Amino acid sequence: MASIPVAFNNTVLRDGHQSLAATRMSTPQMLPAAPILDSMGFHGLETWGGATIDSCLRFLGENPFDRLRAVKKAAPKTPHIMLLRGQNIVQYTSFPDDVVEAFVKATVAAGCDVLRIFDALNDIRNLKTAIAATKAAKGHARGEICYTTSPVHTIESFVKLGVELEKLGCDSLGIKDMSGVISPRVAYDLVTALKKQTKLPVILHTHDTTGFGAPSYLAAIDAGVDVVETSIVPFANGTAQPDTLRMMELLKGHPRAVEYDRKKLQELRVYLTDVYKQLSKFTSPDNERVDSDTLVYQVPGGMLSNFRNQLKEQGMSDKFEEVLQEITYVRECLGWIPLVTPTSQIVGTQAMMNVKFGRWKQISQQAADIALGKYGQTPGPINADVLKLVCDKYNAKVIEGRPADGLAPRMDKLRAELAAANLPTDDEACVLHAMFPREFSDLHKKKAAPAAAPVEIKAAPAPVAAPAPVVAAPAPVAAASIPGSATGRRCFAITVGGKRSEVCVEEIA
Ligand code: CO
Repeated sequence: MASIPVAFNNTVLRDGHQSLAATRMSTPQMLPAAPILDSMGFHGLETWGGATIDSCLRFLGENPFDRLRAVKKAAPKTPHIMLLRGQNIVQYTSFPDDVVEAFVKATVAAGCDVLRIFDALNDIRNLKTAIAATKAAKGHARGEICYTTSPVHTIESFVKLGVELEKLGCDSLGIKDMSGVISPRVAYDLVTALKKQTKLPVILHTHDTTGFGAPSYLAAIDAGVDVVETSIVPFANGTAQPDTLRMMELLKGHPRAVEYDRKKLQELRVYLTDVYKQLSKFTSPDNERVDSDTLVYQVPGGMLSNFRNQLKEQGMSDKFEEVLQEITYVRECLGWIPLVTPTSQIVGTQAMMNVKFGRWKQISQQAADIALGKYGQTPGPINADVLKLVCDKYNAKVIEGRPADGLAPRMDKLRAELAAANLPTDDEACVLHAMFPREFSDLHKKKAAPAAAPVEIKAAPAPVAAPAPVVAAPAPVAAASIPGSATGRRCFAITVGGKRSEVCVEEIA
């Protein structure tokens, strides 16, 4: 066992508030905490990426790159970390290589040091461009292994991915346990195997959703993990990362125990408690408690709480177990894909539709695209009957190549569109316009308006990046997006044979 102290990354300015306060912490709320966090000696600060870019534009009226620069300036000593969805950047579909490359270059230039790069399917082909671009920009590429449990996922399959990520030039390896389901024993074995078969530093990232977070960190520390990721209460525990002070206490007497300044932690706690109160509209006791249902159903906690609400609203509370079991069935049919953005939304929506309308009576475009290989290679095979149904219904064939290979370069076109709209045309503008066209344009309109109000929290407008329309047979179906209450929560009104109902799915990171 390594005798040097373990190190902590701190996630409060990204995953902490994304998991517990719908990603609503604003830059003005972050800035007073940033210098204190910077003075603590953490190994890294996760401050950007994931849903924060969407939230900046959609809800907070902020330019996300300006946030990155401001937070970096307020915390210049500690490396800044962001979460990147590989070829999806921070959206739900694949982008051409030139857009991914421009995004990565702009991100590193704006002050981000470490890019956590993952693909929801763990398809290495979806990670290559982002990893190469990070290296080219002299950033630190942290290749992420999305952890999940299924009959096709084994320690060996995760280690194989880790070895491939090392070959691609990654500087470190992250185990990304978005659902908080890694058990202490598996954490121990996986870290041991990764440390043995690669030369890279290994970081474990988990959530305390099931109460496994802290004990799994402890086991990983026993196995020699280099870094674990913690947050600070009240933006810690539950669906977020374990609290820093709690983790420090848990390690008391351990040969790898680590000590961060307790007085400063207390100072941060007091300040963040105030911020948490300001965000009370977006917090919920449901997310703060240990949820053992996640272990029973093997689906992420955030999805569970959302389904509970949605089924209740639809008078379908009695269908709760049925829908959850259907999630497992849909996952199996779609090759046991991990449940993480965007696959968690796709599988969740399809499970709701299966229960509501009958199995595969309706197939969402996105579920069909997974079956057709448009998101990449699934960990297990697609159910043959479902695949036939999709191919017949869409008159389509399975694609074998890398999904982004079919996408033409877009940067020139994006720049021309921005110029025509009299908007900035630099790379930052182009990549934001590619992912959030309406929100980016709205942001500039607001800036141009006289006496713009300071940053404020506002009601959610209708999401623009709504999943593709539902295709149905035999009844005509119309799907329209309607406002969601939280970042990453996508709500749809589905009309079948004149009867309208609502389904919502929520983002997990
Ligand atoms: Co996370």
